[in-house]
Order: sequence, then C-alpha cells, then structure tokens
Amino acid sequence: PKTMIEPFRIKSVEPIRMTTREERVRLLEEARLNVFKLRAEDVLLDFLTDSGTGAMSSRQWGAIMEGDESYAGARSFFRLQGVLQKLTGYEHIIPTHQGRAAERILFAVATEKGQIVPNNTHFDTTRANLEFDGVEAVDLVIPEGLQPATVHPFKGNIDLGKVEDLLKKEGHRVPFGMLTVTNNSGGGQPVSMENMRAYSALLKKYGKPLILDVCRFAENAMFIKLREPGMQDRTVESIAQEMFRLADGCTMSAKKDGMVNIGGFIALKDASLAEAARANLVITEGFPTYGGLAGRDLEALAVGLEEGLQEDYLRYRLRTAEYMGEKLLAAGVDIVRPTGGHAVYIDAKAFLPHLQPCDYPAWSLCNALYLEGGIRGVEIGGVMFGKRLEDGTETYSAMELVRLAFPRRMYTQSHFDYAAEVICELKAKASEVRGVRIAKQAKFLRHFTAEMTWA
Ligand code: F0G
Repeated sequence: PKTMIEPFRIKSVEPIRMTTREERVRLLEEARLNVFKLRAEDVLLDFLTDSGTGAMSSRQWGAIMEGDESYAGARSFFRLQGVLQKLTGYEHIIPTHQGRAAERILFAVATEKGQIVPNNTHFDTTRANLEFDGVEAVDLVIPEGLQPATVHPFKGNIDLGKVEDLLKKEGHRVPFGMLTVTNNSGGGQPVSMENMRAYSALLKKYGKPLILDVCRFAENAMFIKLREPGMQDRTVESIAQEMFRLADGCTMSAKKDGMVNIGGFIALKDASLAEAARANLVITEGFPTYGGLAGRDLEALAVGLEEGLQEDYLRYRLRTAEYMGEKLLAAGVDIVRPTGGHAVYIDAKAFLPHLQPCDYPAWSLCNALYLEGGIRGVEIGGVMFGKRLEDGTETYSAMELVRLAFPRRMYTQSHFDYAAEVICELKAKASEVRGVRIAKQAKFLRHFTAEMTWA
C-alpha cells in the first residue's frame, strides 16, 4: 500500500522553535524537573496531550462566526443539541466547559459518600472527582490490559467476571457502572462492542445504569470497525450510535474526538438526573444552554463531532500511532502493544531497567526525552497514580508508562520521524538517565504541580 497521507492540506501555520541542550537543561531545572511547568514555546514537539491541542478545520472556523452569544437559549445550543441527540439517542444534552466539569457535576448528583464505581480504568480526573465525593473508584480492566507486551485487539475491555463479583458482594453500594472508551490510562486501548453489550446487560440485570466516558468514542468505533468480526461493513457512525444506545448516559471531554480546543458535555436519558445536573451546573458553569462555553464554542463542537467521525480521517488518525509504534518496536523500544488510538505508550520500566519504582522511571524518561530532543510527553505511573500515605510511605503504580499523545491534525509525518529518531538515540544511552524524588506535592492530581529533585 502507498504512504497513508495526512487527509488535509495546511492553510495556516504556527512556527516551532529548536532549543539547545544547554537551554533545555536550564529550562527543566527552572521547571523543577516537571515538564508540566515548562513554557510551551520551549517545547519542540508537544506530545503532552491530545486534549484541546488539535487543529480546527476551516469549516469549524467558519462556524465560529455563526456563534449565537445569547445568554439563554442560543441557536448554537440547539444546533449542538441536534447533533448530539442524533449521535447518542439521549434526550438531555448539557454542555460543560470540559470533561472534568461534566464528571464533577454528574458525580455530585448521582453518587453518595461510601459508594463504589467500577470502570475499565478511571482517568485521573474521573478518579479524583469520585474520591473527592468520598466514592471509591475501582479499575477492573481485563488482565491483558495491564500487560504492556500482550497483543490483544481490545485491551480496554472490562473484566465481566470481576464486575459480577463486585455486584454480588457490594451491589448495594454501586450507583452505576462506568466504561472509558478508549481506555486512556490503560494505553488508549479500545473496548469491543461485544464487551460493551455484555457489560450493559450485566449492569441491567442488577438494575444499574451504564455511564460512558466517551472522550475518544470515534477512535474506539473505528477500532471496532477495523478489528471486530462482523463490523467491517458498518459505518463508524452507526457503530458509535450503538455504543451510546447500550448506555444510559455519558460524560465527554470534547477536547478529544470533539475536535475542539475547549468544551465538554453530559448527555443523559433520565430526565430527573438531568434536572439535578442542570441545577448543580448553574452554580459554577453558567446557564444550562451554554455550560461555561461561548456560543461559538458550541458551533465548533457541532461541526467537530461530525468531522471526528469521518472514516478517512480516522484511518489516518489510527495509522499515526501505529506508524510511530512500528518505528519504536523496530528499534527495540518496548511499548504498549498494539498501539492505541491517540498515543504511543513507552514502557519506562523496560527502557530504564536500572531505576526502581522510588526513582519514578516514567517521570525520569519524560525528563530525558525533553533534554534529548525537546519532546514533551506525560508520565502515567507512580507520580500520577501513587500516593503519599499518612505514615509518610509511598504507594506506586503497576505500570510505568510515558505517553506520547498526538494532537489531532497538527504534526506531519516528518515530525513523527524526528521523534522516533530522538527516542532511538536516547535508548542507546538509557543507562545515563537519572531518577527523581518528589520534593513538593499537592493532595489531588499531584503530577500537575509536583516539584522534583534528582535522586
Ligand atoms: N476522561 C478521559 C478518558 C480523559 O482522557 C480526560 C482528559 C478526561 C476524562 C477529562 O477531560 O481534560 O476535558 O477535563 N484527558 C486529557 C489527557 C487531559 O491528556 O488525556 P478534561
């Protein structure tokens, strides 16, 4: 087959700047060895996140001029509502400024202290919002989902046996089940339609609703089309529609497959839950028809949701991560296999075998990637998921991964080629990479603001 080209041409460009290694050493020290604290202009290739960082299309920029900025009942809200009702089949569409606001609001009205919520893997903000409300967030992904090297087409699947055990033993404490598509923290791995159908039926048997975290629903739907028997001839849109219809509601950070720079929503079947969510939303987000967004943001999202489901775009999108993955595997770099939708995850324990959990290998690898080539990735390991306990001891994380997440429609193939070259050069001198210790940390989401010292 021929090269899978970017299925767009470039209409507007933004310069990026190369720094010297000496500069990067100084800049990282100033950032307390935490790449979240770097200035973006000091980063060459920013793979920190695929969230809100993508390029909008000329059609989206055009729609922005159509934004109705009325405080209540804006035309832009009804346009978005129409698109989302058709996609999800849910009546109640509640915009929020981003995903975690949707989570905070839904959990505030749908959970109680002491309850338990199962998920394949809770994303860090989802877990934090549940824990903030005194709810236990349990991760029940299938065992393959925790083994970086095991190839399985749907490593995001939830372990139905474990879910049933939980429902049998603690069912009275479970308000609903969640499922994250794709499973970001577990490697951007998809969930199969078969697994979703069975999970939905299991929850129904115990009288529990299913709430999806649908940040990357379009990428998940494309994986289903490409990998799941019997799905090849369906449109991605119809696959996505079926996913939504198996559930009772969803939260979404539209900054991913919504193809916008800001936005999110809650969508629900249940009218009374929606009413409670709107009442809560008014306190912090604004009026329920704009939820903390401008009318123009709602317009951009209405267009973005359609563009994010286009199959030639999705084919190129999934190929990007696969292409990077192939290059790294060929150079002997261990990654989460198969590659996920939005990112490549490097196994930092395997990359830096001389480091211990207390050295935070994935964090250390992030620092090294910046120093080596001006690349910014994100740690998904002991700093993000570990905790400092009251007695001063630390808990760590089963996996130590560095996620290189790819902004949508932004970088070209030569950017990815360069990134692969940097990683391969770093591999040759991996034994020189130093570990880190945490000098200062916050109680929740500590990775964002932590200050580090060299081990
Ligand atoms: N759920 C998942 C699966 C996510 O990946 C994110 C965000 C959220 C919820 C929260 O959404 O950021 O709009 O408040 N993930 C980003 C990331 C931050 O880099 O993966 P948000």
